[in-house]
Amino acid sequence: MNAAERLHAVLAEVRALVRSQPDLAAFVGAELDAPDYAPVAARHLPAVDRMLQDTAPVSRATEALTDAIRRTASVLQWSQSYSEAEVGARFLQGYAWFDLVSPNGPFCHGGLRVAVGYWAQGLHYPEHKHGPEEVYCVLAGSATFSAAGRAPVTAGPGDLIHHPPWMPHAIDMADSSLLAIAFWRGVGLTDVSQLGAVS
Ligand SMILES: [Fe+2]
Repeated sequence: MNAAERLHAVLAEVRALVRSQPDLAAFVGAELDAPDYAPVAARHLPAVDRMLQDTAPVSRATEALTDAIRRTASVLQWSQSYSEAEVGARFLQGYAWFDLVSPNGPFCHGGLRVAVGYWAQGLHYPEHKHGPEEVYCVLAGSATFSAAGRAPVTAGPGDLIHHPPWMPHAIDMADSSLLAIAFWRGVGLTDVSQLGAVS
């Protein structure tokens, strides 16, 4: 399969995951039915190699999408939002994300962003916040999600975590790596999350 075919296969698995989760289907609606495709340049990062060797557990609902992401990893535009000064060199060695749906492609949408992130075991994603409302779905591994005003929750494959706009939140990967998909809706879809006090 070429890059476009592989990305369409990933999108098809995202649609299947969304259909299997009523809360996710309610959040996403029909927005993934027919987005335009605009190719983006592939970009590799060190964490992608760690993701490809990772054997963190998946669930029946998340296995197919996790496999599709791994098969497609070499043509994805892997990115990082933060600098070494902000999060440290070790964090940058173990973390990477890519957009699947965003205002800038590779599937274009002005009101929905779908991104997938990987964090190696032992990392801590410090407190941050953003304008768009967010629903995470854990694909592989697990992590403890903390958010202002509520008890920390350890989430594994298939579990959903919701963050209202501007709710400060942090993610701890002390016990496992994490591969997760994030769905964003609202204003500021391409803005970089604002890091708060390091937690
Ligand atoms: Fe977030």
